[in-house]
This record gives sequence, structure tokens and C-alpha cells, in this order.
Amino acid sequence: QKDGYASFMLKEIAEQPKAVADTLLGRIDEAGSLTLDEVRIPAAELREIDKVVIVACGTAFHAGLIAKYAIEHWTRIPCEVELASEFRYRDPILDPRSLVIAISQSGETMDTLMALRHAREQGSRVLAICNTNGSTIPRESDAVLYTHAGPEVAVASTKAFLTQLVACYLVALYLGQVRGTKWGDEIRAVVRDLARISGAVDQVLGTMEPVRELARSLAGKDTVLFLGRHVGYPVALEGALKLKELAYMHAEGFAAGELKHGPIALIEQDVPVVVVVPSPRGRSLLHDKIVSNIQEIRARGARTIVIAEEGDATVEPYADHLIRIPATPTLLQPLVATVPLQVFACELATARGNEVDQPRNLAKSVTVE
Ligand code: F6R
Repeated sequence: QKDGYASFMLKEIAEQPKAVADTLLGRIDEAGSLTLDEVRIPAAELREIDKVVIVACGTAFHAGLIAKYAIEHWTRIPCEVELASEFRYRDPILDPRSLVIAISQSGETMDTLMALRHAREQGSRVLAICNTNGSTIPRESDAVLYTHAGPEVAVASTKAFLTQLVACYLVALYLGQVRGTKWGDEIRAVVRDLARISGAVDQVLGTMEPVRELARSLAGKDTVLFLGRHVGYPVALEGALKLKELAYMHAEGFAAGELKHGPIALIEQDVPVVVVVPSPRGRSLLHDKIVSNIQEIRARGARTIVIAEEGDATVEPYADHLIRIPATPTLLQPLVATVPLQVFACELATARGNEVDQPRNLAKSVTVE
């Protein structure tokens, strides 16, 4: 079933354009409106929601962190994101006007399931974002938005993550549409870009050879660090998680603005640091900030691996390695910026002789605590 690929992970990385397109299919109409009939929570109730709380584990949690930026920006509803394993054992403030979103590829993750039960006990509505039809989490939720990634066999999540992001964007845009918040030309343009995004993911996949080469050259390293700002920060966390679980290396993701508060002490001669650079258009302040972060770490000897939008020339003087991604609106950038990090981790792990589909000590579905 690997269809000629060396691993399920490589196959699943390659399937991402289709997974993304399938998850969008039938959910955006010709006029650019969202039709999420599966979200059976009545529009009147969605208009009353005063807080969104996202619970998830691992990679799905990273999708949730990215969703927060989109939900708050497009809907102005406050949004919290919490690890399900933390949420379930505390006393969160919820009521029937809170919408809890549980994100899970398998639909069977014990902590996420317990977190949603905890939320329902307090009268909150629960919406599941899930990849597995009829699994426990959607069965116990008030509504479910399925991701259409198809079966994900490799233990490390790749295509499911991208489709979780798509589902989160759809929910955020739908909430905006239903509530009328900020719904206007900006959002309409985002919907148009989202509808076309699978082409951009495909484009990234076509340019990964230099990333593979770079990954192989780093197989002897002990540490790789990842930096990002805004939605690039969860992307950095995801890049680090992929590298830990597949390559068994020390990998950490940081918010670039935190560098001076500690992590910069880790920078020494030739340590590889991957930096996710936001688009220079739009939030240009964010872009300028990260360019100075790159300068700072390079001055301290870091080997900079910069992921930046095509045409962004400002980063060129400071990048030891430059990975180009297509121009996308900032909030959607994780859909293209994550792909090189998946390829990087997979190739580096293979170069270290690891089995990428079945990393040691890990299970695909974590049904115990
Ligand atoms: C990482 C990975 C895990 C899962 C986590 C949640 O590559 O796959 O971190 O994301 O165990 O699993 P689901 O989404 O099935 O709840």
C-alpha cells in the first residue's frame, strides 16, 4: 500500500494537496460562502458564543494554537487553547456559551476524550474536528467536522495536521460568517485563497530536493532549534516535535521574541536554527522583527535555515540555507510552511537509520494516559 514510496510517511506527505482539497470539498460554494451543514449547532447558538476553548494533544494541539490566531482575528471571540491532559484535571471556567473544539486525528485519544466529557458536564457545546469516522470523540460531541485526510498510517502526523488546520480555518470563517464579525473583503479574499491552497502545497512539494540534501548533511548534529512568531511559532513547535519523534534528536521550538529571555544562550557555533519568516506583506512589523532575530542568532554563530516567502529578498543576506514557500496570507502560511519541516524531519531520521513509520516508544493512537 505504500504505492512505491519508501515509507507511509513519505506517501502521506505527498498526499497532502489532495487531503487539503478533499477537506475543502463541498464546504465553500461558488459565491465564497461556507456551507458547514455538519456543524449542527444552530446559528442562533453560535451567535451567542462568548468563548472558544480548543483542547487537543501533540500535533493536533499545534493545529489548535494556530487556530487561535485565526479565530480571534476573524471573529473577535476570545479563544483559549489547552493541552487536553492539563485541561481535564483542572477547573476550567466554562458555561453553555462556551464552544469547546476537540481536535483529534484518531478520535480515540484518551486525554482529549476526557477533556470533552469534562466540558460537556459543564453544559458547553463540543465540536469535534476528527479524521476517523464514527470514532469515540465525534460520537460524544454535539457536532463534528470531519477532516478528509484518508487513513494516516505513519505514527507521525502529517496530512492529518494540514487537514486539521483547514478544518480550523473553516470553523473560524464560518463563525465569522454566522456572526457577521469582520465579514468583508478581507475575509472573502482569504476564503478565495483557502480554496486554492492545495495548489500551493503541491508547489512546495515540488521543491523539496534541497531540503532533503540539507537534512542529510545535518544527520550528525545533536540539536536543531526552531524559531517563529505569530502563527510561525506553533509551526516551529511542530517542526521540533516532528524531529524529536522521528530523528530522536534534541529539538526545540521557541517564539522568536523569547530569545533574549533564555533560549539565546543555546546558540553556539554552527548550531542549526530553522526560522519561519512571515510574509513581508501585511504584517510587516512581524517580518522586520524576525529578520532582526535572524541577524542576532547568526552573529552568535548559528547556522540559519530560513523558510521565507518567494520574492522576499530581505532575508537573503542572513540565510545560510534558504527554503522558499509560495506567498500566502499570513494566517494561512502554516499550511505551506509546515511541509518543508515534515520533509526535513523524515529525511534526517532516515539518514540516521531510523524507521520513520514506527518511531520507538510511540503509538499511533494514545488510548491510555
Ligand atoms: C505527532 C503525533 C501525535 C498526535 C497526538 C494526538 O506526530 O502524531 O502528537 O498528534 O497523539 O493524536 P490524535 O490527533 O489522534 O488525538
